[in-house]
Amino acid sequence: MTELLWGDSARVDAEAMAYMAGEDVELDRQLFCFDLRASQAHAYGLQQIGVLQAEEYQALSDALEQLKSAFESGAFVLDRRFEDGHSAIEWYLTETLGDLGAKIHTGRSRNDQVQAAVRLYLQDRLSKLAELNREIASAFLAQAQRGREQLMPGYTHLQAAVPSTVGLWMAAFAEAFIDNLELTQQTCAWLDCCPLGTAAGYGVNLPLERDAVSEQLGFSRLQLNPMYVQNSRGKFEIQALQCIHQSLLDTRRFAWDISLFTNPSFAFVEIPAEFRTGSSIMPNKSNPDLVELMRAAAAVVQGGLMELFSTQSLPSGYHRDLQLTKAPLIRAMEHGLATLRLLPRLVSGLAFHRENMQDAVEPEMLATDLALKKAADGMPFRQAYREVKAQLQHIGASELAGSIKNRISAGACGNLQLSRLRQRLERL
Ligand code: ARG
Repeated sequence: MTELLWGDSARVDAEAMAYMAGEDVELDRQLFCFDLRASQAHAYGLQQIGVLQAEEYQALSDALEQLKSAFESGAFVLDRRFEDGHSAIEWYLTETLGDLGAKIHTGRSRNDQVQAAVRLYLQDRLSKLAELNREIASAFLAQAQRGREQLMPGYTHLQAAVPSTVGLWMAAFAEAFIDNLELTQQTCAWLDCCPLGTAAGYGVNLPLERDAVSEQLGFSRLQLNPMYVQNSRGKFEIQALQCIHQSLLDTRRFAWDISLFTNPSFAFVEIPAEFRTGSSIMPNKSNPDLVELMRAAAAVVQGGLMELFSTQSLPSGYHRDLQLTKAPLIRAMEHGLATLRLLPRLVSGLAFHRENMQDAVEPEMLATDLALKKAADGMPFRQAYREVKAQLQHIGASELAGSIKNRISAGACGNLQLSRLRQRLERL
């Protein structure tokens, strides 16, 4: 390992050091470019208050830019030579700029440095999540439009209940992902605040231009209290994961529907061929592995959330325990996004077996319609219910199409009002 930022390398037990560094450098690869951006902004702030001369700032900023390119091209590898990404930045700057490089850490601590990098990471990933929620909602809307007259059974308790449509089924998920988009935007706004300039959690005896640095980084406000900055480590991560968890809970329900309805006993839906897998032993199999793994993704995020909740049981201020917020956050966020990236193509590629769906709608499923018709004509509903129940086996199939058309209250299958959902999506 390179010389530790805090010296004393010779004294620290190597095994203990490796344990403390943990998988930090590997995780910091996801945060590194954000750390570099925040370092540039910090240097800019130091120049604003005269701690750095203009040429010094320029040299630091250029070197940080070079490091970013080298990291992205693979010429610079963030590996276990370093304790973490922060040490790697300072090492690179001192290697290339000598003493000037070591000025970068004036007035900051790794405690606010890591918070700045994580905050920028969260904003970046949540804006990707927002785009995905939008794409997914659009894919479901298109399928809802196509399937708006396609009959299928509506189930409660997984038992056939009333006639329904593919349109209603698909529009349910369209609306869910519009909600998820709105939640993501609100979450983005909630954590849009700059932690930088608070150092170890108590500020510093320099007149840091925190607002200018925050603006430079594109935040819309400051996270003001330095102690709260440290107390919020993990708190913001939890909120971001809860946000993506919502999308994955809807994904899980949808994946469940698909794995059920592709079962040959239903044979309602076909997954696109490029998303199916074979069996290593049974030549006849075509399996929905992808859909099943997408169903399981919510569990990964839930696991990450549990770990994060546990890290919150601490008194105020920074504690090294908080380093363990990074792994669950990154693992859950990256896995969640990878899952959602596949969803639009899965949704658009579904093929529906029209006949099978239609044939599964039994005349008995018109019972509720018939009882309500009698009730609308003046019969007390309970009497109508009993009369229809006594005649279930005599219900004819002739009124199936009418059943859908007559469901005209807003949102129901005869009146999906997809344009209303489309407008809401466009406004977000
Ligand atoms: N890797 C550390 C973390 O994620 C960086 C901060 C270390 N700060 C400290 N005071 N030891 O928390």
